[in-house]
Amino acid sequence: MALINVENVSFSYDKKIKALKSVSLSVERGEYIAVIGHNGSGKSTLAKLLNGLMIADDGEIIVDGLSVREKKNLFEIRKRVGVVFQNPDNQIVASIVEDDVAFGPENLGIPRKEIGERIDFALNAVGMTEFRKSSPMRLSGGQKQRIAIAGVLALMPKVLVLDESTAMLDPKGRQEVLSVVKKLNKEKGVTVIAITHYMEEIVDADKVIVLDGGEIKMAGTPEEIFARRKELKDIGLEVPLSSFIAQKLIDLGVPVENVLTEDGLVEALCKL
Ligand SMILES: Nc1ncnc2c1ncn2[C@@H]1O[C@H](COP(=O)(O)OP(=O)(O)O)[C@@H](O)[C@H]1O
Ligand SMILES: [Mg+2]
Repeated sequence: MALINVENVSFSYDKKIKALKSVSLSVERGEYIAVIGHNGSGKSTLAKLLNGLMIADDGEIIVDGLSVREKKNLFEIRKRVGVVFQNPDNQIVASIVEDDVAFGPENLGIPRKEIGERIDFALNAVGMTEFRKSSPMRLSGGQKQRIAIAGVLALMPKVLVLDESTAMLDPKGRQEVLSVVKKLNKEKGVTVIAITHYMEEIVDADKVIVLDGGEIKMAGTPEEIFARRKELKDIGLEVPLSSFIAQKLIDLGVPVENVLTEDGLVEALCKL
């Protein structure tokens, strides 16, 4: 059974604004899924439905065999699905990094000794161990967001949902967060659902889901998605230049792979 199954889910705000329309998707254990779409396409609504912050009007969401619709399941579901939001400043609650990371497990009633172990694990996983005793206020945006991720990791979730968690960061901060998330997926087996509106960020995903107007417009590998440049443009998403150039070269009979990054394109051209 898939770790998460979303079946024909619809959701409206105030019974008027249809934010999601019959969305279906499944997430397997260990997968790295990217969800992309421009503003208002329904991405955050999906994130909030996945851990029961809101409940769908229609359809079913099953997490690890548990229906999100059942109130009695919500506690277990929220332990399994950790959500990191866009603004790190809204997610940090304590004035010392380790207290911030401990906040979630303390609320779950985890014993003191185990909380210590979880803080060690979570800070190490995001590469922030040396900042354990620091004030989050003094950290960069990327470092703060890594602390927010550590706070969620301390709950030992099976799924990490990142709702545009890189959107407020500078390029360095974005890179830091992306590489931490990739590592958690590859080395610790954390299932990732990365929501973004940056096309470059879907490159490493196993599967990409494109949302537009509350509907799934496309689903496939990054290569398959990037190949549909015209349709993407119609819904306000620009394919990275490297991928566009590679596709043009392939059309002209130049045998490069459909590379997705600038470095990849240079490498492919050098091999010719
Ligand atoms: N709290 C809310 N109340 C009313 N409408 C909302 C609310 N949140 C989002 N919406 C609307 O729902 C739609 C989807 O929004 P959202 O899921 O936030 O999209 P995204 O995260 O892709 O920008 C948009 O039309 C948005 O205006
Ligand atoms: Mg959003």
